[in-house]
Amino acid sequence: MFSNSQIKEFFKNQTVFLTGGSGFLGKILMEKLLRECEEIKKIYVLLRPKKGKTPEQRFKELFNHPCFDVLKSKHTNHLEKVFLVNGDCNEPLLGLAEQDVAILLKETTCVIHAAANVKFDQTLKEATSYVRATKDLLEFAKRMLNLKVFVFVSTAFSNCVHSHITEQFYEPPMKPEKLLDLVNILDDDTLQAITPQLLNTWPNTYVYTKSVSENLIKTIGADLPITIVRPAIVISTIAEPIPGWIDNFYGLVGVSSGAALGVIRSMNANPNYRAPLVPVDYVSNCILAAAWKRGRSDTTTIYNYVGHENNQITWGRYMRILEEQGWNVPPEKILWYFSFKIRKNRLWHKFCVFFLHTVTAYMVDFVLLCLGRPTLAVEKYRRLNRTLDLLAYFGTKTWKFDDGNVVELWNDMNDADKRQFCFNMENIDFNSYGRHLVMGARYYLFHETPATIPKAKRKMNMLFFVHYTVIGVFWYILFKLIKFFLSLFF
Ligand SMILES: NC(=O)c1ccc[n+]([C@@H]2O[C@H](COP(=O)([O-])OP(=O)(O)OC[C@H]3O[C@@H](n4cnc5c(N)ncnc54)[C@H](OP(=O)(O)O)[C@@H]3O)[C@@H](O)[C@H]2O)c1
Repeated sequence: MFSNSQIKEFFKNQTVFLTGGSGFLGKILMEKLLRECEEIKKIYVLLRPKKGKTPEQRFKELFNHPCFDVLKSKHTNHLEKVFLVNGDCNEPLLGLAEQDVAILLKETTCVIHAAANVKFDQTLKEATSYVRATKDLLEFAKRMLNLKVFVFVSTAFSNCVHSHITEQFYEPPMKPEKLLDLVNILDDDTLQAITPQLLNTWPNTYVYTKSVSENLIKTIGADLPITIVRPAIVISTIAEPIPGWIDNFYGLVGVSSGAALGVIRSMNANPNYRAPLVPVDYVSNCILAAAWKRGRSDTTTIYNYVGHENNQITWGRYMRILEEQGWNVPPEKILWYFSFKIRKNRLWHKFCVFFLHTVTAYMVDFVLLCLGRPTLAVEKYRRLNRTLDLLAYFGTKTWKFDDGNVVELWNDMNDADKRQFCFNMENIDFNSYGRHLVMGARYYLFHETPATIPKAKRKMNMLFFVHYTVIGVFWYILFKLIKFFLSLFF
C-alpha cells in the first residue's frame, strides 16, 4: 500500500540498537517499529540476565507479551528482524561481547538509549552505573560507521530543581567525571552516608543521575547526531497497539492500582496542580518522530514531552476519574472498598496514612498471626508508604515546562505521520482514557476479564456496607461508653 509517511521512509533499511527494549516503553517502541515501519532492516535489543533467566530465555519470552499480539497477527515474520545482544549497563561498555561490538559498529544506524532503573530509591552507586553506561555508549557510538541518529530517553524531571524547565541543557548537580570518580573511590557505606548531602535539593538519585547523564550527552555527544526526549510521567497506552496496556506497578501506576484494590487511601498531592501524565504509545511516537527529525537536521534538539498546554489534567481530576472507574469497574481482587483521596496538606496526609495504612496493617498482621499464617501487611504497607513519600515531591510541586520543540516537531510532520505517529495530546478525552486505563490495569495487571465486573461490584458494595457498619458500631459503642462515664460523675 502506498504511504507517504516520512517517518516510515526514514526507518526504511535502518538498523536500530535499542537499550531498554524489555521495559514498558521499550516494548512499545519495538512493537511500533516492527508493525508500522515494515521496511526497517533490523533491531538489536540489549538484554541482561535477570531473575535466574538468561538473556536468551528472556528474549524468547519477550514476544509472548500481549502488547505484541496485534503485530504477530498482522506480520507473522517481522519478529525475525529482532536480534538479541547480550549485555548489561552495569558492566563496562554495556558488557558487550567482542563479536557484538564488531556487528554493532558496522551495522547500527540508529541508537535508542532507553535503559534505566526508574526506581526512585536506588542507591547513588546503582543509579550512577547508568551514567557510566551512557558515557560508554556515547563513546561507542562515536565509532559507529553509519550512525544517523542517537536518541537519549531522559525524563522531564531531569532538572526538577528548577521551577521553569526549558528545552535546553542545564548545569548538572555534579560533573559526570567527578561523580564517576567519587563512586569508584568511596566504599558503599561512605557513599550511602554522604548521599543526602550530595543530593541536596534533588529529590532522588534517579533524577540526579539523569541530569548528570544529560551533561554527558552535551559534552561527549557534541559531535554525534543526538536528540533528547524527556517524557513526564509515562502511563498506559491510549491507542496502540491496544488501549489501556500496561505492564508494571511502578510509582504512580502502583499507587493507582493500590487505590483500585482499596489498600491505598491517601496520596500527598495538590489537587489543583497539573499531573503531567503521558501515554506510553504517544511517548514512543514522539521518540520515533524526534529520530526522523534529527536524521534530517544538524542540530541537537531537546523535547520536553509533558502533554498539551491547552488540555491538562490535574491531580484532583485524575483522582476523580480513578474514583469513578474504581466504583464502575472494580477489580475482583479488591481487598477493601475504594476510598482513595488526594490530600494537599502533608501532615494531614501523614495522619491518614498512619491510621488508614499503618494501623490497618498491624491489625491485619495480628489476625494473620492469630490464624498461624505468615504476616505480610506491615512490610507491604511500609513499602507502599515509602513509594507515597517518594512521589509526594512530584505531586506537591508544579513546574512550568516549555515544549515549543515538541509543538514544532508535530507541526513539521505531514498528515500521514500525524495519523500514524500521533503524539498530540490536545484532543485527548481524559475520561475515556481513564476508562481504558482502569480496564487495562484490570486486565493486564490483575488478569481479570470484564466478565468478572458484576461480581466485583457486588463485592465492593458488600465491603462498603461492612466498612460503614463497623464504623457505625464503633461510634455507637464509643458514644455509649462516654455517656456511661459521664453518668458516673453527673
Ligand atoms: N516510566 C516513566 O514514567 C518514565 C518517565 C520519564 C522517563 N522515563 C524513561 O524512559 C525509559 C524507559 O523507562 P520504562 O518506563 O520503560 O522503565 P522500565 O519498564 O523499568 O524499563 C527499563 C528498561 O531498562 C533496562 N535496564 C535497566 N537496567 C539495565 C541494565 N543494567 N542493563 C541492561 N538493561 C537495563 C530494563 O531491562 P530489564 O528488563 O533487564 O530490567 C528495561 O528494559 C527510561 O530511560 C526512563 O528513565 C520513564
